[in-house]
Amino acid sequence: MRILTSIAETRHACNLFRTAGKSLGLVPTMGALHAGHLSLIHSARESCDAVGASIFVNPTQFGPSEDFERYPRSFEQDCRLLEAAGVDFVFAPSVAEMYPAGASTFVEVAGLSDRLDGASRPGHFRGVATVVAKLFHIVTPDRAFFGQKDAAQVAILKKMVRDLAFPVEIRVCPIVREPDGLALSSRNQYLSREERQRALVLSRTLNTVAERVHAGEYESAALREEALRVLRQEPSVRLDYFAIVDPDTLEAVADLRQGALIAVAASVGTTRLIDNFLFGGL
Ligand code: PAJ
Repeated sequence: MRILTSIAETRHACNLFRTAGKSLGLVPTMGALHAGHLSLIHSARESCDAVGASIFVNPTQFGPSEDFERYPRSFEQDCRLLEAAGVDFVFAPSVAEMYPAGASTFVEVAGLSDRLDGASRPGHFRGVATVVAKLFHIVTPDRAFFGQKDAAQVAILKKMVRDLAFPVEIRVCPIVREPDGLALSSRNQYLSREERQRALVLSRTLNTVAERVHAGEYESAALREEALRVLRQEPSVRLDYFAIVDPDTLEAVADLRQGALIAVAASVGTTRLIDNFLFGGL
């Protein structure tokens, strides 16, 4: 497995794969890898001849009072995991390599960028779209793999690819969870034992809502009430949003019969967690 840090050498390596007629898969990450990230690598490995992963803690997607500085970094261990998973190359640029001094060009998916997490994290999705657009330009993958865990990110990146005609197919992989239901996240490392226990209220809320949907309740208002009832069982968990939205536009839907994304975000202590459940419709 090659570890590449410059844009030039990464372009060169990717060109060699292409001229050899190999299909190329990209898995963008911020490192601190867990089984959720590795599930994306496995999907990429199954459907592409060559697989690259990027590790870049992207400063432009963190707000000024967010956790950019303390975001977990475990580069050596990440590389061992990626190598064992059969990755061909890792692209791990410095901040200066990705954002040359004076860089002032951004990609903004207007409308969607202000919804769900974008509402409480202004500028977050602009940072995500910008860095992913840049990764697509550098690697030129045939397919790029993202997790359903970050459902709003998926909607925004799909729209960016469509709006700007990127020649890349976005593949979305299911949420990987701990046996007790907690969605895997690099930020779970921040949780104390007690907080981790309280964090289970997110998946418990979604499970309760899913049960109600499968029992035939399709009214968003009733499902929302039910969700808030479960969330109140952990009063110390501060709700950011509970939303029932169209998975592509992220606009609220009143009725789930056409399908919907049911998403929740909340802070446990100082750690912000997200989770969701996608209902495919009747
Ligand atoms: P990061 O949080 O490192 O996540 C990288 C990818 O792993 C994302 O596509 C995310 O949805 C996926 N992922 C995380 N937890 C998952 C889980 N429990 N199950 C399945 N997939 C999971 O998302 C980012 O980085 C960044 O915003 C990035 C796209 C790399 C741009 O900087």
